[in-house]
Amino acid sequence: MISSDLHEAVRQLRAGKLVGIPTETVYGLAANALDPEAVAGIFEAKNRPSFDPLIVHIGQMAEISRLVTDVPVQARQLMDNFWPGPLTIILPKSELIPDIVTSGLPHVGIRMPKHPLTLRLLQSLPFPLAAPSANPFGYVSPTTAQHVLDQLEGKLALVLDGGPSQVGIESTIVSFAEGTPKVLRLGGISMEDLTSVLGESIPSTLSQSQPAAPGQLDSHYAPHRTIALLPHGASAPSLNKGEVWIPFAPQAESKDSLSLDGTNTSAAQRLFALLRKLDYPEAGKMYVEMAPESGLGRAVNDRLMRAAHRA
Ligand code: TXA
Ligand code: MG
Repeated sequence: MISSDLHEAVRQLRAGKLVGIPTETVYGLAANALDPEAVAGIFEAKNRPSFDPLIVHIGQMAEISRLVTDVPVQARQLMDNFWPGPLTIILPKSELIPDIVTSGLPHVGIRMPKHPLTLRLLQSLPFPLAAPSANPFGYVSPTTAQHVLDQLEGKLALVLDGGPSQVGIESTIVSFAEGTPKVLRLGGISMEDLTSVLGESIPSTLSQSQPAAPGQLDSHYAPHRTIALLPHGASAPSLNKGEVWIPFAPQAESKDSLSLDGTNTSAAQRLFALLRKLDYPEAGKMYVEMAPESGLGRAVNDRLMRAAHRA
């Protein structure tokens, strides 16, 4: 079921089957984006509500022209600077994209992932791939092939193994649905990076109670265990039996830390795997020190707050 056979992945996808794919952000659960039946299989396997649209993945810049009807200048600048990479851009969709992909919305999210195996896969296929993160709806995203299998075995044809995801958190989503750009989800491209390319900061709609990206529901990414967040720089909490403390950077008193070297890059890479590893229902509270509120740290903190949220 875990395989590195690109040809087999191509065969299965051409037959309308589901394949787990590695990307630099997280693993995706992919199917032919132009085949409504194949796409329906994704929603079923993930137990995903039909109102939550999927991102369409492409392997070459030229594909964009048949999938969307307009590319504003700023969207083009973002593509030129960040593709392939962890950025999803939402644009008006063409007729070619089935309604089930966008949950009936007139716009589609598109991204060119930066993973050599998946880029080759995409370039070997005559269609783009619709792919949400390969986890059951509401759970932590997978960053290894084994994570995918642990939760979706029996529901997909195979998982293509591309090693652990290098970025570790999902793509940043920028929407042009209303003409001017808005950030719908923080992710692998930081606000600072977006600002430096566009020459101005982009507003975000992250704190809306009616989420524009349904994945922004407060309690997304939730593991089963209770998580208590500590502000960045907080000292060690006193622990009861069964409780653990995850400081941001390595500390003598703790076995684990979020970041291996104190950088946000390392924290992002390790976050989801760590939440999974420590997630067993009988265990006590998990104290996690937050990241500094800059660069990728903002996206790490966003995921931590969702993981800690109890509705
Ligand atoms: O890094 C990523 O983006 C990963 C990898 C596999 O590419 N994919 C991913 O997909 O995180 P997913 O489905 O787990 O999250 C996609 C988010 C959802 O919150 C969805 O609501 C939003 O993108 N989205 C997709 N298309 C949209 C659209 N047309 N309008 C608004 N939001 C959209
Ligand atoms: Mg997801």
